[in-house]
Amino acid sequence: MPNITFSSPLHKDKTVYAVAGSHRKTVLEIAKENHIPIDFSCGDGECGTCLVRVHSIDKNQLKRMGHPLTEREVKVLKDLGKITQAQIDQMAIDDLMPSEWRLACQMVVRDEDIVVHYPSR
Ligand code: FES
Repeated sequence: MPNITFSSPLHKDKTVYAVAGSHRKTVLEIAKENHIPIDFSCGDGECGTCLVRVHSIDKNQLKRMGHPLTEREVKVLKDLGKITQAQIDQMAIDDLMPSEWRLACQMVVRDEDIVVHYPSR
């Protein structure tokens, strides 16, 4: 089970241990359960309010950073200029995250230790 460190210039860093079953939970759900104040609005991958920057601190799983981008995540990140079509195409080939930018309401954690930076705009 992974450790997730939530880091923000506005709040004290907090590391939470994602318990069994959390592999189906989004970063936003885990943040809410642990009283981490990540901004959000729609909660459904459409508005981009929950934009976060994520990096892996697990040396064996560099650049995985959660399950692949959802279709909604791809659209919003592209609209926000955080990801290019070339990066999207490459992601389909190698399953590596092309960008550190993610939507907290869409990103489902994997078994890897990550740092989630918020707010990140
Ligand atoms: S809260 Fe709207 S995209 Fe995540």
